[in-house]
Order: sequence, then structure tokens, then C-alpha cells
Amino acid sequence: METNIDLSVRIGSGRLANPVGVASGTFGYGREYEGLVDFSDLGAIYTKAVTLEPRAGNPPPRLVETPSGILNSIGLANVGVEKFISDKLPFLTSLPCAVVVNVAGSTEDEYQKVIERLESVDGGIWGYEVNVSCPNVKHGGLAFGTDPVQIERLTSSLRRLTKKPLIIKLTPNVTDITAIAASAQAGGADAVSLINTLVGMVIDVKTGKPVLGAKTGGLSGPAVRPVGVALTYRVKRAVSIPVIGMGGITCADDALQYILAGASAVQIGTANFVNPKTAGEVLRGIRGYCIDNGALSLNEICGAVF
Ligand code: FUM
Repeated sequence: METNIDLSVRIGSGRLANPVGVASGTFGYGREYEGLVDFSDLGAIYTKAVTLEPRAGNPPPRLVETPSGILNSIGLANVGVEKFISDKLPFLTSLPCAVVVNVAGSTEDEYQKVIERLESVDGGIWGYEVNVSCPNVKHGGLAFGTDPVQIERLTSSLRRLTKKPLIIKLTPNVTDITAIAASAQAGGADAVSLINTLVGMVIDVKTGKPVLGAKTGGLSGPAVRPVGVALTYRVKRAVSIPVIGMGGITCADDALQYILAGASAVQIGTANFVNPKTAGEVLRGIRGYCIDNGALSLNEICGAVF
């Protein structure tokens, strides 16, 4: 007999069928993974960042492998909100999973215009993840994500534009991430997601130059997992809204570390490049863990670390 485990997650006005999503920037606009994954395994697709205008991104090389991780410096390359709506959204919203649009901008006004435009079409979007944590752009990104005052102001201005779940994606590149998370909550965020990447650099000693075209990039993958788990643990104790954990998850046990630390949901990022089926495997592993430990819902194990 199959045990009925409730793995659904409530975030603001929305409900995710399961807690395992795929992280922005590692899953394109969904279609790139057609035929490789069973989309019904996914709690949510967090799309590639969408800005008001199309962006070409940073000069190549944009990716370099590092021990147990990768360093990326994409520079928020994307098609812009209009093409996103006409070319990408119809496919995404035909899928049997929630679609969370990752929104980025250089100014508060840009973030607002992107969300206003997306709200004007609706088109089956489940919610928004506000990217205030990209380390690879000169304007916006970290400039917002490291300042509690700006975070609260931006969040409350976006809150006024939508009733859909509003998630603020946080950077680990700060002294006190709990202060930033508290500001997002004060501004009306329904959840925070963390961690975005850690700033890093790789130097080619033969040329004496940084490998990445933009010199520095953002580090992700298993190397950052202990940082993500620790910050999830700290943030969970500082806010009452749900925390979505990510950073270096490759298997169910990795995801369970985040959940035990206090994450209500998780995102799979870099692992998608190695094994596109990671999210489904993680989901089945979480379900198995609940069964083995007599938990009938995810809530029973969320934050259960002692
Ligand atoms: O360079 C990039 O596009 C990275 C974005 C991010 O980390 O949010």
C-alpha cells in the first residue's frame, strides 16, 4: 500500500505540489530540458532571469569549472520581457509544474515595469522570484541585495503590484544575511530563497589573467553547500516566512540537510548540468525519508535539526 505523504508547500497565496524546484539560470526557459526530464517531477521551474530589455550578457569565457563547483559570469543574458512573453511563456505555462519568473533589473523602476508587464498578461505565472543577488552585473543585482533599506523599499513597491507569491532571492555576499531577509519580510515578501552564488575568481597562471571575461564570477555547486545550509539555518531563525534553500544540492540527502536546517522548499541548480533528472531523484528520496521516519508531511521534518 502506498503511504500518502503531503509534500506540498504553501508560499503566500500559492501552493507548490512538491518542494523540489529547479534554480534560475540552470534550466533555461524549460524547453531546453524537453525530453530529458519528467516535468511533473518538478515543484517549480524558476526561470532564467528576465529583464525589461534583452541583454547580451558578459564577454566570454563565462563559465569555468572549479573544485566541486563552477564559476559563472553570464551577466543576466536574456531575451527581455517582451520576447519572454511571446516566445517562452506559452511553453512554460503548458507544463505540469509551477512557473516562477525570476525578475532582474538595474533600477527599482525596471523591476516594477517587468512585473507590471507580466501581470498584464498573467498567462499562468505562479509567482515571482526577485533577483537582487546577481554578482555579475555593474548595476542592480548585489547593489540592491546588500542594503536592507533598499531591499525593503523594493520589496514593498513590488508587493503592491501583485498578489502572487513574491520571493526575494538573497546573496551570501553580505556580513549579515539575516538583516537582509528581515527587510524582505518587512517589505511584504512571501518567502526568501538562498543562496545565490559566492563571488570568486580563477586565474590562469600561464597568462597571468583571470579566466572569465568579466574577471570574477559566482561560485555554485557542491563546494558551496555547507555555506547554504548554515545560512538557511540562520535565516530560518530570523524570519517567519518560508525559506527556500539552494546551493550544491545533488541528491536527496543534500536537500534534506536544507530541509532539516529549516527550508520549506529547495532548488536544484548546478546539478542540472550533470544530471537533468536530479530534481525527480531528490523528490523520491525526500518521500522515502519521510516514510522511513514516520513523517506524514514535509512540515514534520522542516527545521527539525537539533
Ligand atoms: O551572471 C548571471 O547571469 C548570474 C545571475 C545570478 O547569479 O543571479
